[in-house]
Order: sequence, then structure tokens, then C-alpha cells
Amino acid sequence: MHPKNILIVDDDKNNVLVLADFLKGFRLMEATTMRETMQVASLCLFELIIINMQTKGLDTIYLIESLKRLPLTKSIPVVVLSDGVNSALEDRAFELGVDDFINLKSSVSTISSRILRVVDYQRCLREIALKDEIAEEKIEQMQKKIIESFASIIEGRDFSTGSHIKRTASYVEIVIRGLLDAGYYLDELTDDFCQACVTAAPLHDIGKITVSDAILCKPGRLTLDEFVVMQTHAQIGGKMIAETLSGMESTLILSTAVDMATYHHEKWNGTGYPYNLREEEIPLCARIMAIADVFDALVSKRCYKDAMSYRTAFEIIRDEAGRHFDPKIVEVFMNLKNEIISVSENLVAGLPDLFPSNISTCVCMRRMPVPSEPACSLIH
Ligand SMILES: [Fe+2]
Repeated sequence: MHPKNILIVDDDKNNVLVLADFLKGFRLMEATTMRETMQVASLCLFELIIINMQTKGLDTIYLIESLKRLPLTKSIPVVVLSDGVNSALEDRAFELGVDDFINLKSSVSTISSRILRVVDYQRCLREIALKDEIAEEKIEQMQKKIIESFASIIEGRDFSTGSHIKRTASYVEIVIRGLLDAGYYLDELTDDFCQACVTAAPLHDIGKITVSDAILCKPGRLTLDEFVVMQTHAQIGGKMIAETLSGMESTLILSTAVDMATYHHEKWNGTGYPYNLREEEIPLCARIMAIADVFDALVSKRCYKDAMSYRTAFEIIRDEAGRHFDPKIVEVFMNLKNEIISVSENLVAGLPDLFPSNISTCVCMRRMPVPSEPACSLIH
């Protein structure tokens, strides 16, 4: 809430005294020149600035322009007291955002009432804005809770290695920072988009909750038919998010989550699934998600394999530049090895699982019946 300060720009002491009498609940401050006004207005928070345009030597329009230009003063309501004869000046003042123009020939009671009405109106606007802000914050919290809940369901559902979701979201964040530092995809990597990627990342495998336990938790190799079923998780996941979260306030988070879930198994060379998209046809968020997801699967212990060494995993990622992965993202990823390893080690060893399970392995990466495929093409 603003303090109850009103600034009066007027060189007529009599006017100031009369207004002070009507505005007793306020702390009035005075200025008589442009310079004084700008100085005082930038030092204090005001509910209102009243300008008497008949103040000697004052360029009222220039003063209003200056007040409306400065970040500190531009949102302070302004009321101008005029002689009522210069309509062109009034028009210009309203264009600049003045809240009211009051004729000095009006009665003191009318002048005061109109001033108080402006103050009340501005207070109402602030209250509405504050309520909107609180509501927005609540919605944002709810959205985050929904996403966290969904992410927890996925982790519990496929018995994945506890912190997979946290790690992949962290890798996504690191890669985004790396891309920004390298100057890649700057047009796409707006602040909102980057935040949406990190927020939405935990949902990328949500489609797996529709895959049966027999397939999802199978400790050995999947048959071709089983693999086809497993592949459906990408498309289904995208649809689930679109349908379930369609009421979300932030459509950017929604569309990013849909893209990540649907396209995170597409490959740069067009051999991925579900749509065989290639290169930049694949949304950037999904290209980032792909590398985070694969790397984590490679260095994690699974039911059918031990964890790969970081060295081997990074070699595979490097070799897949231009095949599975976007070469620019691989370049950034390789340059950030230390940060990636640090996240991997801290979240593997340091943090408790969301759903501690006696099944210590998962089926995010499963060996397919195609022995000649490179290791990372086995992720599904
Ligand atoms: Fe997946």
C-alpha cells in the first residue's frame, strides 16, 4: 500500500491551504517548480500529484511528460487544476495519462471531491491488481503441484531410479544456460520459454503410466511388439498433458510440456519416433529433453545393465551429434561435462528417492532386439 502522500505543485499558498483543509487524512508535500517536483517525486511514494497549471514559470505539459517517462513516477496518478480555457492543452494532458482536469473556478468542495474520487479509484485499481497477483501466484503454485504430482506418479509407476526426473530437469536447465552462453537459439530461448522447459521437463515420460507393468517393469529385453507398445508413451503422454492440463493459465508451460512429452524420442536424423521428425522440425525443448533423458539413462543402473562410466556416456553423446542429437546441443553438453557430472553424482547419491523402492532398477532404457544399434538408440 502506498503511504498517504499527496504532492501539490502550486505556487499559490492559498490554494495549498484550502486543499490541505479538505485533504486532512493525507500528508501533503509541496513543490513550486519542475525541478523541485521531480526531486520530491523521486524520493517519496505518492498516491497523487496535483499540478496547478497556472503555477508561474511551470511548463505543465513538459512536467507531465517527465513524470510519465520515469519508472519511479510514471504510475502516480496526476490531477491538473486548470483555468478551463486551453482545451488543446487539456487534450494533450489527457493523452499523456493525466487522470483528471479540474477547473479552478469550481467550488472547493467539488475540486476536493474529484481529487478524492481519483484517489479512491486508483486504490481500487491497486487492490484489484493485488488480488490478481495473488490469484496468479496461487494458480502458479497449483500448476507446480499438479506437475510435481504427475512427476511423482510417473516415478512411482515405473520404479525408475528415484531422482531421474530431478536429474533430467537439472540437465535441461544446464543445457539451456549453455545454449544462452554460446549464443545459440537466442530467439527461442526467452526467459519464459526457459522457465517453461525446466518446469515441464518432469512430465516428459507421463505417457508411461498407460503402459502395462508387464512391459514397463520387464527386466529383460522387450519383444518387437512390446517395444511398439512402449513407444506409444510419447504420443499418449502429449495427448494426456494437452487434455488434462488444458485449463492451465500458462499456455507456454502447457505447449512446452506437450512438445517435450510427444517429441523427446525424435532424432535429429529423422529416425526417431513417433513422427520421424528431423532437425529443427523437432521442437527445441524436445531436442534438449532428448539429450538429458538419454544421458541419464546411460549413466544409470538398470535392470538389464550396469551404469555406464561418464567417459563412455559422453563419448556416445558426442558420437550421436547430428544423428540422434542436435549438434549445437551436443557441443554445449560436452562443454558442460563437469556441471552435468556434478548434478548426476549429487542427485544419485545425495537425495532420497521420491518413491523409495526395493526395486533398484528401471526400464527407461531397455535393450532392444536389434544388437547393432548404438547404445543410446535403445532409449524409449
Ligand atoms: Fe520416454
